[in-house]
Amino acid sequence: MSARFLETDISGTFLNHSLGPSDFKSFGKVGERNYLQGLPTGSDGYQVLLANFEPTEEEKQIEEALAPLFPHLTGRMKPRNWTILEDGTFKIEDQSAIRNAQRIAGQEGKPHKAESPSLYIPPEALQQDTLSPVMTEATLSLLGIEARADEYTKWAFLLFDGIPTLKRFYHGWDADESFHPPALELIAVQTRGATQDQVDRYLEQVSRRRWIPPFRTIRQMLIFPYPQEKTTGPSYGQYISAIQETASNSAGALKRTVKPDEDTHGVGFEKIITALGILSPKDTAEDIFYVFERFTMPGDAILPDPERAVLSFRALGIDRRFIARILYQCLETLNNNVSPHLGEGEQFLDMARARDLVCFYAKSRTGEKDFQILMARNPRIRPNKQLERIGGKSSSN
Ligand SMILES: [Fe+2]
Ligand SMILES: [Fe+2]
Repeated sequence: MSARFLETDISGTFLNHSLGPSDFKSFGKVGERNYLQGLPTGSDGYQVLLANFEPTEEEKQIEEALAPLFPHLTGRMKPRNWTILEDGTFKIEDQSAIRNAQRIAGQEGKPHKAESPSLYIPPEALQQDTLSPVMTEATLSLLGIEARADEYTKWAFLLFDGIPTLKRFYHGWDADESFHPPALELIAVQTRGATQDQVDRYLEQVSRRRWIPPFRTIRQMLIFPYPQEKTTGPSYGQYISAIQETASNSAGALKRTVKPDEDTHGVGFEKIITALGILSPKDTAEDIFYVFERFTMPGDAILPDPERAVLSFRALGIDRRFIARILYQCLETLNNNVSPHLGEGEQFLDMARARDLVCFYAKSRTGEKDFQILMARNPRIRPNKQLERIGGKSSSN
């Protein structure tokens, strides 16, 4: 018998319309031994589905379109090049030294396998840095968002069960993201912006929130992280510039670690959505507008005190206008990527609708002139002005 494996709707409910009790085998029913293995008394044990897993047509098509994009074994765009050691040291492969060694090896006709020299940024280096209260606030807000990346990925793993390439890509993405909270936590604590206790309490508060995605399909869920990751990279760019002066070691660490990760993720999703656009242009275009019209940055919803987070981001020059410009760049890129694959003169996305959409997001008036003004404005870093508005103190103090 072939049956769709555990189909799930977005609320996480398993729907097994075509399956009956005989399709499942239970094992580990009550008994002293099983109780000892961790099952509570009275438990019916574990269930295993005997029916064969059969991906849907849609899943097969998506798998076929995405498989060539990512290396088969890892699903990654590129290998990880940094980690955090147990004592809180950032260990980063020195890319320029590697390239140099490869160049020299090449000139001498040796194989290109170069040693990978590393940069080390120990906690003592971060201790020489200071963060202003508003930058501490921004650090905690970033930490809160990073710590809750699972609020998205947990849904994704349920939805993408039938698409192996996506599962591999998401595992790799998740692994990258798992290093971002400790990186920010180290910066917050070692610079003495916040105490370990304050960070722990903040994270505990953050962990109580739940994000329910407003999306209904695999494609919509896949589109959402594209503008989000595309925004994250430049946002770290703003943060790094803002702390550069007083916290150059922290800035240097993030510049070589979290920021390039985010940029890579943005490119990954760009490839994915482009492939979906080429596969089914009309439906994908509709879903792109559906998602972009509902787009909010996760921090707006999930952080315990979103208002303070928003103010601290504004201090970095990250506001609705900053994000609106990135949303437009995303839509423009997708349009440029997919349109050449369509019929003569055909456009993938209605760019007039895209312009209205981003003006609406920025709460600016729609119209060509207002759109041009929106796109021309450069982000400014205004820490001092915003500092007064959040009381000049970090919420954790
Ligand atoms: Fe991240
Ligand atoms: Fe990311």
